Amino acid sequence: MCGIVGYLGKRNALEPVISGLKALEYRGYDSAGVAFFSGSDSQVIKQVGRVDELVKATAQYSKSTRRKPKIAIGHTRWATHGAPTLANAHPHYNSDKSIFVVHNGIIENFAQIRSELQALGYEFITQTDTEVIPHLLDHYVKEGMAFEEAFERTLNDLQGAYAIAAISMQSPDTIYAARLSSPLILGVGKGEYILASDPTAVMEYTKDVVYLDDYEMVVVNRNNYRIKNIKRSKSVKRPAEHLEFDLEQARLGDYPNFMLKEIHEAPQTIRSATLGRIIPSSGTVKLGGLESVVNQLKFIDRIVIVACGTSYYAGLVGEYLIEELAGIPVEVQLASEFKYRSEPFSRSTAVLAISQSGETADTLAALKKVEDYGAMRIGVVNAVGSSIARLTDAGVYCHAGPEQAVASTKAFIAQVTVLTLIALHLSNGSTKLFKPLLKELDELPKKAEAILAQADSIKKLAEKYSSYHDFLYIGRGYAYPCALEGALKLKEISYIHAEGYAAGEMKHGPLAMIDKKFATFAIAPNGNLLDKTYSNIEEIKARGGPVVAIATKGNKNIKKLANDVIYIPEAMEQTQPILVAIVLQLFSYYAAVKMGKNVDRPRNLAKSVTVE
Ligand code: F6R
Repeated sequence: MCGIVGYLGKRNALEPVISGLKALEYRGYDSAGVAFFSGSDSQVIKQVGRVDELVKATAQYSKSTRRKPKIAIGHTRWATHGAPTLANAHPHYNSDKSIFVVHNGIIENFAQIRSELQALGYEFITQTDTEVIPHLLDHYVKEGMAFEEAFERTLNDLQGAYAIAAISMQSPDTIYAARLSSPLILGVGKGEYILASDPTAVMEYTKDVVYLDDYEMVVVNRNNYRIKNIKRSKSVKRPAEHLEFDLEQARLGDYPNFMLKEIHEAPQTIRSATLGRIIPSSGTVKLGGLESVVNQLKFIDRIVIVACGTSYYAGLVGEYLIEELAGIPVEVQLASEFKYRSEPFSRSTAVLAISQSGETADTLAALKKVEDYGAMRIGVVNAVGSSIARLTDAGVYCHAGPEQAVASTKAFIAQVTVLTLIALHLSNGSTKLFKPLLKELDELPKKAEAILAQADSIKKLAEKYSSYHDFLYIGRGYAYPCALEGALKLKEISYIHAEGYAAGEMKHGPLAMIDKKFATFAIAPNGNLLDKTYSNIEEIKARGGPVVAIATKGNKNIKKLANDVIYIPEAMEQTQPILVAIVLQLFSYYAAVKMGKNVDRPRNLAKSVTVE
């Protein structure tokens, strides 16, 4: 995780770097820092805590001097090696403070490099893996290499994952950067360049962006940039791409935080995910991103979905959808497990990766693993141009816009909407649910709005239940993945212990936990399995457990069973997960707010998980 930024240009470099770090704060927020050259001096400013702390410290610096640095690098940290202390905050530097480095990723062989450098007399003042980089650069420079050569040589010594930006007093008008398995882009402005972990960090200054690939290093100076693939020892010509990006989408507006804003974007998210993809005149689904593989798709007899966290739960909904609508067997695997499994794999299996950020290290590794099998790789990704989007052979973008709260909300809505379209596309119109579902998708934004209109009553319930320490989420069929996602949402932002279970599994163990202090969230919208879920609720009530239920509007029976009920509009079973998810998101949100938690930045988490 962590976010990195680098600026070289005409303006006060601290402004774009700080603005970039704010945009990247979702990647880590335990400490932040900048390094810059001003005249013949180098400066490092670091702070423990949020980027706002760094803002205060740099403002102090700017007040104390008339100097406006034209080159700077910055970092916002999510600790991997070493506690979140001032010393461990980036940038890291060599002993005479002439070389500065920011790094996102993990250097796996840092211990070995560190002992080799220590044997040469280098002293280490942090517990980070990153600190080996400035010292190694220093070592090669002292051996007589020019900084660019030393940089390439250092990269060749590093194992693991990195996006690195480095500056050196030896060449104070140049930034050196590189990536391997951690994202890095270069924003190209008029007479200025901004390096960053993702494009949102540069959009205020330029919408022209160069995506760097693995094993590429870039040397940026005042007039140009040069890219080199260090594995093939070849220079690479890559012009900038122009991105369409609405800055307003990334702003908070009148909302108190991004999570609430993003939950409220659900209706628009459904519209954007279906826009231009449902052709009402012909009653068909058109997925431009799959057109290039349409013939290969006919020979697919199995799909393996790989994803993590919330995206994995969206994948479970996708499994139910694709199997029911298209009749293709689907297996959903946690990317972190999949990459280490040795299962038989054939070319007729397609791998479908789901990811909001498009940068999740485990999901990327899962896709890389199947490269040798010749399997088709499809992406359902939100972040345009991200690593997963570029690695896959084909894909369908979610078009949910930037998601900034750490807990995923609108991305889940978009992922399930897109998976519904993919399932319909794969069915080739063979399912009798085809037309009804197209109609339903068209009406869904209005139903989502109806749920959002009940936010106040969901808030009251969430506040009432926020004093419980334990929660079970249960559901059957399409409601089962929703139960898993509901439990994740509650625990990650409120820290209340919550577990998701298939309702039918209660009697196989979890029922033992139930007593009056253990609450259950029963997801029980209308459908074939409703009576069976009723029985589960009865069993919980009989043991004194309080129950909150989600049910379909008009269901009076549930009131006799559950202590509290939240209603969703009537909907087909296949689209219920989208509506249910909005309720679960609001419930978790209001419970966490009541408990005084920082909903956008939950403790110990970061949004883009670019380390294993
Ligand atoms: C939970 C959450 C995470 C992500 C997971 C995968 O709210 O946000 O569980 O879903 O880290 O991230 P992506 O979708 O970016 O691959």
